[in-house]
Amino acid sequence: MILITGGAGYIGSHCAVEFLKNDYEILIFDNFSKGHREIIENLKLKYNIVFVEGDLRNKADIDFVFKNYKIDAVIHFAAFSEVSNSVLKPDIYYENNVLGTLNLLNSMVENNVLSIIFSSSAAIYGEAKHIPINEQHSLKPINPYGKTKYIVEEMLEDYDRAYGLKSIKLRYFNVIGADYEENIGEWHDVETHLVPNILKSVLKKDFIFKIFGDDYKTDDGTCVRDYVDVRDLVYAHFLAYKYLKDYKKSDIFNLGSNKGYSVKEIYDTVCEILNCKIPYEVVKRRNGDPQILLADSNKARNVLNWSTKKTLTESIQSAYEWEKILKNY
Ligand SMILES: NC(=O)c1ccc[n+]([C@@H]2O[C@H](COP(=O)([O-])OP(=O)(O)OC[C@H]3O[C@@H](n4cnc5c(N)ncnc54)[C@H](O)[C@@H]3O)[C@@H](O)[C@H]2O)c1
Repeated sequence: MILITGGAGYIGSHCAVEFLKNDYEILIFDNFSKGHREIIENLKLKYNIVFVEGDLRNKADIDFVFKNYKIDAVIHFAAFSEVSNSVLKPDIYYENNVLGTLNLLNSMVENNVLSIIFSSSAAIYGEAKHIPINEQHSLKPINPYGKTKYIVEEMLEDYDRAYGLKSIKLRYFNVIGADYEENIGEWHDVETHLVPNILKSVLKKDFIFKIFGDDYKTDDGTCVRDYVDVRDLVYAHFLAYKYLKDYKKSDIFNLGSNKGYSVKEIYDTVCEILNCKIPYEVVKRRNGDPQILLADSNKARNVLNWSTKKTLTESIQSAYEWEKILKNY
């Protein structure tokens, strides 16, 4: 059985579906601090999953899972991930993302579960020194959120050396899209991500989309990011799981599309797809946002044999379908 922490959240729920479709047994562990009970109920309607409600900050909660279920590997999504909030409240980020992971790793080692796939982030790189960013790029996170990912990656290296715990660190760039046919998608109560915010301003009368800064040193002045569809992203977890089983070797992979789009380009694409003019306002830069993040994810393509299949248009359309579903919750 595979343990998915944070499986009531956006990427974790898609990952659960990926493994369930491939006939794996799944246990989801989540405290609903950011995730949603409705997501678990939706999954339960169609699939046979085990769900345990618990908080990684309480070691006894995660010990319970390892004591009572035969766990073969862990896919660890549970974390707080709002960059600007992490600048304001670093303490809760270090507590949740670092202490929570420390409890998880200790419980794994105590119960002899020695395989983990970890959700790392492009935030670990900080300001890009060269573009595109490969895995050798220096690690200089510029916000507490990115620093928590850096610390956990270092912990994982140390736990491999000391206890033989093997890990695949997957550094995601910007994740978009939704498997709306499975009734799952991006659902953050405080939404900081671009595409859902543009779509919300189409679907919600009182919501206006904000561009955070148009004075960056990019072609149109807005930040550039690399967008990867969640359905392609979770497939990489499946490949990483097999890699870990076959080679029992720790490794690190960037996951992105290798294409960069500015905020304005994404905004224009959404307007074009939905064939409407979406109102927006430009406000000042957000704390902790690097100017450009663009992946070189060729290592994942070559070593894991991963590829991205969804186009930007397909991702945006799927996100729009999901936002329409979400509007009714
Ligand atoms: N969404 C992105 O674009 C993106 C990009 C890079 C990295 N990531 C990383 O991917 C992972 C998943 O991101 P997401 O967008 O699905 O986030 P999310 O907030 O939708 O999901 C996280 C889940 O973890 C749960 N959780 C948080 N702390 C917990 C704790 N202490 N105990 C138990 N459960 C806890 C939440 O309730 C939630 O269901 C995170 O680690 C995030 O840092 C996301």
